[in-house]
Amino acid sequence: MNSITIQSAASVRGEIVVPGDKSISHRSIMLGAIANGVTTVRGFLRGEDNLSTMHAFRAMGVEIDDDGEMIRITGCGLHGLKEPGDVLDCGNSGTTIRLITGLLSGQSFFSVVTGDQYLRKRPMKRVVEPLSRMGARIFGRNGGTLAPLAINGGPLKGIDYQSPVSSAQIKSSLMLAGLYAEGITCVTEPSPSRDHSERMFRLFGASLIRSDNGVTVRGGVELTAQEVTVPGDISSAAFFMVAALITPDSELLIKNVGVNPSRTGIIDILQAMGGNIQLLDRREVSGEPVADILVRSSRLKGIAISGSVVPRAIDELPAVCVAAARAEGVTAIRDAKELRVKETDRITAMAGNLTKLGITVTETDDGMDITGSEHLLGGTVDSCGDHRIAMSMSVAALVASSAITVTDIACVATSFPTFFPLLEKVASK
Ligand code: S3P
Repeated sequence: MNSITIQSAASVRGEIVVPGDKSISHRSIMLGAIANGVTTVRGFLRGEDNLSTMHAFRAMGVEIDDDGEMIRITGCGLHGLKEPGDVLDCGNSGTTIRLITGLLSGQSFFSVVTGDQYLRKRPMKRVVEPLSRMGARIFGRNGGTLAPLAINGGPLKGIDYQSPVSSAQIKSSLMLAGLYAEGITCVTEPSPSRDHSERMFRLFGASLIRSDNGVTVRGGVELTAQEVTVPGDISSAAFFMVAALITPDSELLIKNVGVNPSRTGIIDILQAMGGNIQLLDRREVSGEPVADILVRSSRLKGIAISGSVVPRAIDELPAVCVAAARAEGVTAIRDAKELRVKETDRITAMAGNLTKLGITVTETDDGMDITGSEHLLGGTVDSCGDHRIAMSMSVAALVASSAITVTDIACVATSFPTFFPLLEKVASK
């Protein structure tokens, strides 16, 4: 089955737990693999993207066991990875390919990284160019800007890099290369992107200094294995937050969600739209803020979204588009050009799909204007092979006047394999 038909819902109610955070899960494998000692990871997301990372490190000789409860990674130290015998397939995962390219640049062996048809279209120059300045020898299609990438690992030197875009993948790729570089590697960005790498580097004992929009890593410092507990992914919770806000008579408690301030743009945006969202029982787990999130149906209004909140909500903007489609007035999204280079062009994909449902959407170069409506039509929409488009449109179906069929939904397994059963559990007819 590669499509699903979803009927409208009378309410979205109950208590759910969403799977582990994808970004933190990737980083736990990567740092665990190059640390000294055995790292344990609880709450690991077993989505396809994270399994790509796991397979890549196994292919480099790292012992990684999964008993279904906990992942155990036997770290091989900073210089213990082995040359992989084959191409490392990163599947659909931008985080895997970009972060691992930084790490591989500093190894004393040759490697090749690639991915699926979508990943092979996504820009790699953003990491290849600064890594090359550090001394990395990376070759690829289209002048080294598209995967597959061939990496001739070797000695690196630290650089001071001002990234033109706010991107945790660029920052983290250089931070990982920085662990192997001579001297210090400094990365600054226009406004802060998610800081899971910074937090986890600290946890594992890396030498790191943070500033407002930047981070500095000292090379050559060995890492120490840790016990990591991964919180629920706020990007997965976002679909359920929007579902409960737009569906009448709803009250949903989402337990154990990571609420790192560099990720909570979605909460700020939805609250500014009038959403009734409360954070309960705030706590800290493995250096990351965590809370339970209580969401109730709300009358939403259109707002302007731009500036520094955008990188703090970058993966949640497709879900925001669905909230905007139901809000009173216009929601104007700007400064979000990065959406055009995600798993698909998310501006065109969401604009096209919402237009099919009778919503007025005007695309701009870096965002869109969405005029909300109380009437959302049914019909057939396409995920464009992008998990977050598939899930956003499935949430829209809860409030449409007739059923919505979402096609090409296998991609949902990249980040949220239990999404559809969970939606069925909380949405009542
Ligand atoms: C991620 C960073 C973001 C985000 C992606 C995960 C990460 O990408 O969209 O889903 O784990 O570092 P960019 O760094 O390209 O913005």
